[in-house]
Amino acid sequence: MAPTSSTVSRSTAPPRSPSPYRLFNLDVFEYLHESPFGLYGSIPFMIGHGARASSGFFWLNAAEMQIDVLAPGWDGSTTPENGRIDTLWMAEAGVIDAFFFVGSEPKDVVKQYVSVTGTPAMPQQFATAYHQCRWNYRDEADVDGVDAGFDEHDIPYDVLWLDIEHTDGKRYFTWDHSAFPNPEEMQRKIADKGRKMVTIVDPHIKRDSSFHLHQEATEKGYYVKDANGNDYDGWCWPGSSSYPDMLNPEIREWWADKFSYESYKGSTPTLYIWNDMNEPSVFNGPEVTMPRDALHYGDVEHRELHNAYGYYFHMATADGLLKRGEGKDRPFVLSRAFFAGTQRYGAVWTGDNSADWDHLKSSIPMVLTLGLTGLPFSGADVGGFFGNPEPDLLVRWYQVGAFYPFFRGHAHHDTKRREPWLFGERRTAIIREAIHVRYSLLPYFYTLFREASVSGIPVMRPLWLEFPDDKETYNNGEAFMVGSSLLAQGIYEEGQKSVSVYLPGKESWYDLRNGSPYKGSMSHKLQVLEDSIPSFQRGGTIVPRKDRFRRSSTQMVNDPYTLVIALNSSNAAEGELYVDDGKSYDYQQGAFIHRRFVFADSKLTSLNIAPDNLGKKKFTSDCVVERIIILGLRSGAKKAIIEPGNREVEIESGPVSLRSGSSPVAPTIRRPNVRIADDWTIRIA
Ligand code: GLC
Repeated sequence: MAPTSSTVSRSTAPPRSPSPYRLFNLDVFEYLHESPFGLYGSIPFMIGHGARASSGFFWLNAAEMQIDVLAPGWDGSTTPENGRIDTLWMAEAGVIDAFFFVGSEPKDVVKQYVSVTGTPAMPQQFATAYHQCRWNYRDEADVDGVDAGFDEHDIPYDVLWLDIEHTDGKRYFTWDHSAFPNPEEMQRKIADKGRKMVTIVDPHIKRDSSFHLHQEATEKGYYVKDANGNDYDGWCWPGSSSYPDMLNPEIREWWADKFSYESYKGSTPTLYIWNDMNEPSVFNGPEVTMPRDALHYGDVEHRELHNAYGYYFHMATADGLLKRGEGKDRPFVLSRAFFAGTQRYGAVWTGDNSADWDHLKSSIPMVLTLGLTGLPFSGADVGGFFGNPEPDLLVRWYQVGAFYPFFRGHAHHDTKRREPWLFGERRTAIIREAIHVRYSLLPYFYTLFREASVSGIPVMRPLWLEFPDDKETYNNGEAFMVGSSLLAQGIYEEGQKSVSVYLPGKESWYDLRNGSPYKGSMSHKLQVLEDSIPSFQRGGTIVPRKDRFRRSSTQMVNDPYTLVIALNSSNAAEGELYVDDGKSYDYQQGAFIHRRFVFADSKLTSLNIAPDNLGKKKFTSDCVVERIIILGLRSGAKKAIIEPGNREVEIESGPVSLRSGSSPVAPTIRRPNVRIADDWTIRIA
């Protein structure tokens, strides 16, 4: 444990860091972009990283916590040990149940933390694609129109979301029948295009004696109680509301049953769920939440578990989706509140941000931090929730958002409509391109989600997670890695003309758009382009893509792959591809393809790396590789030989990026047509 403040006398203590970090789940209206105050979720985990080793500290305690990062020399010592930083941890209640982790690099610490709190759930494939949300899509005609708008403008998307107004008076699990008279039909039409829908289900239940959920919860005594033992009554969207006591496993089970198709009328198998306001948010409560003396199961006071209420709610909802599908399909539930372990139940987002440039910029450290604390599946509302983004900000947000693990556009009901095609042809084209980048990288993202689900290593990573020895990376919160192969840098200022991008490591990097090489271990001053943000593939890596554009990820399932090989200084590269059925749990019994691609000595080899002891289920795919782009290939090779079969194919110049026509070219093996499920080699002759 860090030293306590009682050893510091006022006269000798140097100034401390401005204020402690507060871990207390709160619904903060228009939150500031740089502040240590409590926000929707809390994870009492700290990672320390220095030149010699990495370490972690986790205090499993869901009460309010404050963590002070003390200024160097705070204890009066004039020569603080090099690089040492002390922190002071305080909790309002609970016991000290603490874990220390040590490793030679930060990934070791993240893995150990996840081994204690649980590995992240593997999402369904669709959930890793683009989501379109707004508070609110008004009615079925609006839903139809938005859905058709994506098709008319040739922009892929996978999920359309309905916010609180879709319900009958904020009674969750119901529909406003005049606006949504045929919810099943509506979902089916969307599903016919391979798309899904999401509805919101919050924890506050309207205290209306004619509402069956309220009747049942009241009769069964399932609500959290106030200090006097009466059902706690707080104010939220529906007005007077009560909150199911999610600490109680019996109540969680009851809640989970509410997602069955019989119980949730109008729901279908392609409907997924959004849990919001689960801090819990109580408009008339102290600090907009539940009083600390409210009582839970076992007479436990709310103060003891406040930070875990939302986690239990998320858990019960995810269980509900699992149950309704008889355990076959992986749930998708987005939650606003979170705690250590939330990764086992689904995704989170950074809540009600604002449509300004600072919020775009701060979304990067927020998403990176969530990833380091075990939650790989997160993102910020693209465009900013409050306010109207200037069109250029919206465009830049899509370009960054395309790399968030969770990629969703969302907006407050007071804002102007902002579907991607509403800002003129040029901007529509740029946003389309940004979303296309995401869709083409879906095989890579899915492979990274697989890695996260096994090891906890996040999808989006700070540079220092990949380059732990490079001090230049330690304070870089503007650029980020996606996996270990891609680096992107957002543009966070209006009208910015140039940007300095630091590329770590000794190998070269290749511009994702045109394949141009850039030296590593140095900063490059780059001209800012309107149509993309700087993004690079690291030399020595192989990235799988799917470059044919469809309406949704479901329609890409049988599409062929492109492999992009970026050679390092030894003319070598490696990468992985993970594929399964994209929705079920069969992968847990061995039903997946996992390949490692190794390029060395002018030969590309595809190796099976799936362990064969997981179970009997099999997954196979007829998908082939239709194109292999080799960045950094110096020889003038004209052909390649594929084994088995001793088949010869041409090496030609082919486009590097997704845009055809004027796009720069690189050596490309055309139509090798090798199956991703098979072993093969391709030798450059
Ligand atoms: C909260 C959510 C926001 C949602 C709104 C209405 O503010 O954070 O995303 O749109 O409630 O449900």
